[in-house]
Amino acid sequence: MRPDPMTRVLHIDCSARSADSVSRRLSQTVVDQLIKVEPSLQLVRRDLGRAAPAAVTGVEAEAFFTPPPDRTGEQVRALAGSDALTSELLQADTVVLGTPMYNFNVPASLKAWIDYVVRPGKTFHRVANGNLEGLCEDKKVYVCTASSGKSKGTNMDHLRPYLDVIFAFIGIRDVIYFDAEGLAWGEQERERSINRAVEGIQQHFSKS
Ligand SMILES: Cc1cc2nc3c(=O)[nH]c(=O)nc-3n(C[C@H](O)[C@H](O)[C@H](O)COP(=O)(O)O)c2cc1C
Repeated sequence: MRPDPMTRVLHIDCSARSADSVSRRLSQTVVDQLIKVEPSLQLVRRDLGRAAPAAVTGVEAEAFFTPPPDRTGEQVRALAGSDALTSELLQADTVVLGTPMYNFNVPASLKAWIDYVVRPGKTFHRVANGNLEGLCEDKKVYVCTASSGKSKGTNMDHLRPYLDVIFAFIGIRDVIYFDAEGLAWGEQERERSINRAVEGIQQHFSKS
C-alpha cells in the first residue's frame, strides 16, 4: 500500500548524444508538462545514454529463470543491478522514454535495459492456463522518438512495433508516441518535425 497518492514518474533517456539530442528534448518536454499538472510528483531519472547497462551475462541469464529459493549466492548478487532497474519500473506510475531510432530499432543501451526489466515473477508471470501475463498493467508510457529518416508505418520501423510488443508483454497497453521524424531531411523539415512533436505534446496535456 502506498504511503501517499503522489505520482511517480520514471524518466528514461538513451540517446548517445546530450545537448543536441532531440529525443532528450522531447522527453524533457513531456516531463515538464507532467510537472505542470502535478508539481509535487516524484521524479526518478535513468540515463541509459550516459550509463548503459552491460549486456546480460551468463550468470544473470541463468538466475532470471531460477526460482528465487533455488538461487545461489552468486546468482543473487548477479541480479542486484537488474533488481534495482526492475524496482524503479515497478514503482513508477508513468514512464517517460526518450529514444532515438538506431538501425531501425532501439539503441543497444535501451535493449539492455529491456533485457534487465522483463523479468519472470516480477514484470510478467505464468498463469494457470500456461500463458504468460504482464504484471505492469497499471502504468502509462510516453515514448518520444527521434530519427533522421521517416520509417513510421513502414516495414522498416522496428522501433515502435517492438516497443509496443515489449510493453504489452509486461502488461502496459497505454503507450503514447510523440515522434520527430525526418530530422536529416533539411533544416526546414527538421524544425517543422520538432515543432510538430512539441505541439503534439502540448496539445495532449492541454486536454488532460
Ligand atoms: C548508430 C545510429 C544509427 C542510426 N540509425 C538510424 C535509422 O535506422 N533510421 C533513422 O531514421 N535514423 C537513424 N539514425 C539517426 C538518429 O535516429 C537521429 O540522429 C536522431 O536524431 C538521434 O536521436 P537524438 O537526436 O535524440 O540523439 C541513427 C543514428 C545513429 C547514431
